[in-house]
Amino acid sequence: MANHPLIEKFQKAGQGHVFAFFDQATPAEQRRLLEEAAEIDLGEVARLTQTLLKQGGAAVALDGLAPAPYEPRPEHGGDATAWAEARAAGEAVLRAGRVAAFTVAGGQGTRLGYDGPKGTFPVTPVRAKPLFQVFAEKILAAGRRYGRPLHWFIMTSHANHAATEAFFAEHRFFGLDRGRVHFFRQGRMPAVDFAGRILLETKSSLALSPDGHGGSLRALQRSGALDLMQREGVDTLSYFQVDNPLVRCVDPAFLGWHVRRGSEMSSKMVAKAYAEEKVGVFCAQGGRLTVVEYSDLPAALQRETNAAGGLRYVAGSIAIHVLDREFVRRMAGGGEGVALPFHRADKKIPTIDAAGAPVRPDKPNGVKFELFVFDAVPFARAPLVIETLRADEFSPVKNADGADSPLTCRNDQLRQFVRWLRAEGAAPASDATGLPAFPLEVSPLFGYDEDSFADSWRRLAVKPRIEPGLYLE
Ligand code: UD1
Repeated sequence: MANHPLIEKFQKAGQGHVFAFFDQATPAEQRRLLEEAAEIDLGEVARLTQTLLKQGGAAVALDGLAPAPYEPRPEHGGDATAWAEARAAGEAVLRAGRVAAFTVAGGQGTRLGYDGPKGTFPVTPVRAKPLFQVFAEKILAAGRRYGRPLHWFIMTSHANHAATEAFFAEHRFFGLDRGRVHFFRQGRMPAVDFAGRILLETKSSLALSPDGHGGSLRALQRSGALDLMQREGVDTLSYFQVDNPLVRCVDPAFLGWHVRRGSEMSSKMVAKAYAEEKVGVFCAQGGRLTVVEYSDLPAALQRETNAAGGLRYVAGSIAIHVLDREFVRRMAGGGEGVALPFHRADKKIPTIDAAGAPVRPDKPNGVKFELFVFDAVPFARAPLVIETLRADEFSPVKNADGADSPLTCRNDQLRQFVRWLRAEGAAPASDATGLPAFPLEVSPLFGYDEDSFADSWRRLAVKPRIEPGLYLE
């Protein structure tokens, strides 16, 4: 076999099989395989094989686990004055230009069965705007409202980076200043078989996959995004996932709670809709705040109730956070004791057999390693959880049908538009769930939350007729 220091390194690490077909490959294929191999941290793979595969991974420790405290909304008994003060503080931070929006959009969107970057998926009820456009317009509108255009960072994956950039270019960045929209790729991890051997996808390429949204912290650092923010006077990141068009991309009250408490990482919760809902749960343990992923929380705890008969572990994570720039830098640096832990996911990974023939497994044949951003919470100073209302902020598109599907998301958008209209005395007839009889749509440029909607509505000299297909912009 060809002599190459990288090949020798892999051989020494027991991963020499990666180059089994190297000599048959074309020079271009060889170059590609070597490039991919150079991305791999063999020490990390060996460590993960040892801890997560051989020792089966440490089960999530549940001793001393308790529900996390959070700041309830005024509607649910929270302190209305504190919420008003938080909001004013957040508006000041936005007016000072200290905030950037940050979307993680590197996921593979397998469950939705949609071919293409998930952000390009059409979601709105009348205009069928794609997710990216909804966020872009909210960000544009917020920038106008606070007199400071926002920077927007978008994390992509190797698989969808080019398509994502092309989509924005094709749509002229949806009216945003293209100099303020920044794309960067997240890192990749190799998949391994159950013995820890790195899997090949083809004879000349590794089975690589995105390193999880937790990889965003190191990718922000590596891509130069943190330095760019620093140069631009941005010290606070408003983090959200690509799948949830209801999100407030920048929320003054949330930002205000974050800065007033001196928190380095804050999170939003909604009350879980039912015990088995597939959301992470905010917990307290040993004086620290943590998020326990749904798959790690035993059913008995998921179902446990409190004295009032409600769920005891009620605080569902909807993956909306505010992060301090310097906290991200510290986490990305990965100094002693500050690294995010990897999680193991057993998957069906397309690969090749010993003769080089493709294998499409019908049951899991290996393991992917992923980082989760919420694992940073326990490392943050003064981490904070605030409540938000599900109807106002959370309706993700995850599945092709059933819960969290395009249909549930469309209906939740419609109900939100109806609530905004109703507050102005202009609601169309709707059913008992608040769903109108016909589709209508409010552009984020007209209103992206109740207040911005009310301001625009009141400015209209002539109010439009509320009829099918109404589009307010
Ligand atoms: C996620 C959370 C869950 C939370 C729920 C809320 C995890 C493990 N769980 O669940 O706690 O309650 O959302 O909706 O995250 N992504 C990347 N790169 C990756 C992987 C994912 O950018 O390598 C992005 C995706 O593009 C998406 C987001 O992260 O925006 C969520 O990923 P997904 O795998 O869909 O998480 P869920 O299992 O739905």
